Amino acid sequence: MTAPQQPPIVDPLAVMRGLASLRKLAGSYPAGHPMITQKLKELEDVIAELLHAGSPVRIDVIRGDVFLDGIASTSEHQANQQLLAQLAALGVDSIHIHEGVQREELLAVAEFLWQYTASGDSVATQLAARNVTHVSLGRLLPLDTRWRAQQWADAPTGPLDPDYAESILMAQHTWEATAAGKPLDVVTVRDLVQLLIYKVARSNAALGQILAVKQYENLTYCHSVNVAMLSLLLGKQVGLDEPTLAALVEAALLHDVGKTQIPLDIVRKPGALDKSERRMIEAHTTLGAEILIQSEGLHPLTPTVALEHHRSVKGTGYPDLGDAIPHPMSQIVSVADIYEAITGARTYQAPTPPDRACLIMARMAGEKLNTGLVKTFVNTITFFPVGSLVRTNRNELGLVVQTNRREPLHPMLTLVDEETYKPTFQVDTSERDSSGGYARHISTSLPAPDGLDLRLFLDSAQQAA
Ligand SMILES: [Fe+2]
Repeated sequence: MTAPQQPPIVDPLAVMRGLASLRKLAGSYPAGHPMITQKLKELEDVIAELLHAGSPVRIDVIRGDVFLDGIASTSEHQANQQLLAQLAALGVDSIHIHEGVQREELLAVAEFLWQYTASGDSVATQLAARNVTHVSLGRLLPLDTRWRAQQWADAPTGPLDPDYAESILMAQHTWEATAAGKPLDVVTVRDLVQLLIYKVARSNAALGQILAVKQYENLTYCHSVNVAMLSLLLGKQVGLDEPTLAALVEAALLHDVGKTQIPLDIVRKPGALDKSERRMIEAHTTLGAEILIQSEGLHPLTPTVALEHHRSVKGTGYPDLGDAIPHPMSQIVSVADIYEAITGARTYQAPTPPDRACLIMARMAGEKLNTGLVKTFVNTITFFPVGSLVRTNRNELGLVVQTNRREPLHPMLTLVDEETYKPTFQVDTSERDSSGGYARHISTSLPAPDGLDLRLFLDSAQQAA
């Protein structure tokens, strides 16, 4: 008779913690240093205990919580935030360790984590090159039913700027018709480009809604409208002329049109994709370019941008086009695309606030994204763009109504009544007190609650000082 299986007594965080310290040691001391040997031994012991049950050790970080084989860690959550943030910053959300793992492999993983920068090769390929066969690291996680609990809306909720609302509706109709196999409606696309350039771009409320954290899952058509607007902001900032801006907005609007040819459950899949699913997702670039080449009346660069927007400035990414560097217009759309994607919600993760998104993009500069474009973009939107809801160090809730180019961390706020969500009065967070220090700091940025009507705050506000 076998005894019922007991949950493991070793906390999965011990493995995460062990790997994180080993990573630092591997980066600071030569191989064979006694501190490395000691840490390796500790980590080996923890893993041996976890592997004792005979199945692989599967550690997943799901929205900031650690799970071992699907069971939540009992550790004090708060104390581990820094460690989890460090691993998340490295793109490691999932660690699987199999029976037979060798000490050399653990050290190789730690060294890999120390040296890792995003490059063309997948993590799996890079680990295999280091003879690591019993450990796998992942960015996305196997499906966990708990993720279903987080349901995001498919589009922005709450009162929207009417022109922005109309542009989303037009994009939705165009996308749905294309998904149903109809030819792309180029006339509507052209109207939509005009609406975005001449109306939506002039609405502070709409820009606020696009720049701030988005409490909805950015499905293709909303994402496309938002990427078009962000590309327009960046294109204006780098001094493109009007006809080029119109071409840019059209290309940005249609960059992901190939996704209309891919089943939605794969586009939205909240877990690791297998090889064929990944191939299918990656094909949205070539499928999009094909649709756009066949559509008469578009700008000649529009298919190019669809084809190239997942390629890096180093010539890596997909599809494989040799070492060709993307056209500057594709590089602009890539910057806008990434910002939009990370500030939007996904089935498996909450949206990232703009200030953190800027830092994430700064890390991609020079590797994936064009450094000059990232700098210009971050300077344009700033860390706390118009429309961001923030809390100050005085525990006031405020909405950013004007950015400050000279002091991007100290924008102008309209304070928000926490009961009614109505504006109260304006404060300038760049003002100094009698000691010469700032009277206020922004402590954190927050997602806007449903009852907050951005139009009350932003319609008459200025974009930038
Ligand atoms: Fe894409």
